[in-house]
Amino acid sequence: MKNEQLVKKTAMFVRKKFENEGSGHDWWHLFRVWQLSKHIAEQEEVANQTVVELGALLHDIADFKFHGGDLSAGPKAARSWLTKIGASKQITDAVCHIVENVSFKGAGEANKMKSLEGKIVQDADRLDAIGAVGVARAFAFGGSAGRTMHIPGEKPVIHKSFDDYAKNQSTTVNHFYEKLLLLQDLMNTQTGKKMARSRHKFMEAYLNEFYAEWDGLK
Ligand code: ADP
Ligand code: NI
Repeated sequence: MKNEQLVKKTAMFVRKKFENEGSGHDWWHLFRVWQLSKHIAEQEEVANQTVVELGALLHDIADFKFHGGDLSAGPKAARSWLTKIGASKQITDAVCHIVENVSFKGAGEANKMKSLEGKIVQDADRLDAIGAVGVARAFAFGGSAGRTMHIPGEKPVIHKSFDDYAKNQSTTVNHFYEKLLLLQDLMNTQTGKKMARSRHKFMEAYLNEFYAEWDGLK
């Protein structure tokens, strides 16, 4: 199968699978990450556009958070799909490396993403977690997980290990401190860094407004 066909088929597959997802991992998240990845790849003159696009489309195929913490579920599901549609071993291995390492695993865990293609997808995924869309996704996720929005006086918690991060049950506002506000400094590419800056500023302004309203000052 031609590379273009691989991307088209995969887009159709994930669209169908994620159409009715309500936890922030819906098809439109994948669509935005796909578009952002292509945009960053153009700026970075990346070697393999197909790997970037397939990695973006498949990056959340089987998230550990929804598979009892199993980190191998994602790459397994991606490999089985890519084998089914006849992708080459080289493309399959490269995409599985992306799916395996894309996720944020807490402030204290090192990033194991090795390839430029993977770094691009990771930046795109992180950009979609911050800014106006990121705020919306955090509250959508919090709602679907039954989390409290905010508890005044609760100190921000930042996690040292993946275990800590995965087990945490804190408020949605704490998610800004444990993850969203850290992402700006974790961007891999120049394009990603630049785009993260304005999204980050927006979140800071958002939180200031949120606290002022919470306290009845506005
Ligand atoms: P990604 O798709 O970037 O890997 P995740 O799978 O960690 O992100 O989460 C999906 C979305 O839900 C993201 O926007 C993320 O910020 C949000 N999210 C994850 N955990 C929480 C949480 N504890 N509270 C609020 N939002 C969360
Ligand atoms: Ni994602």
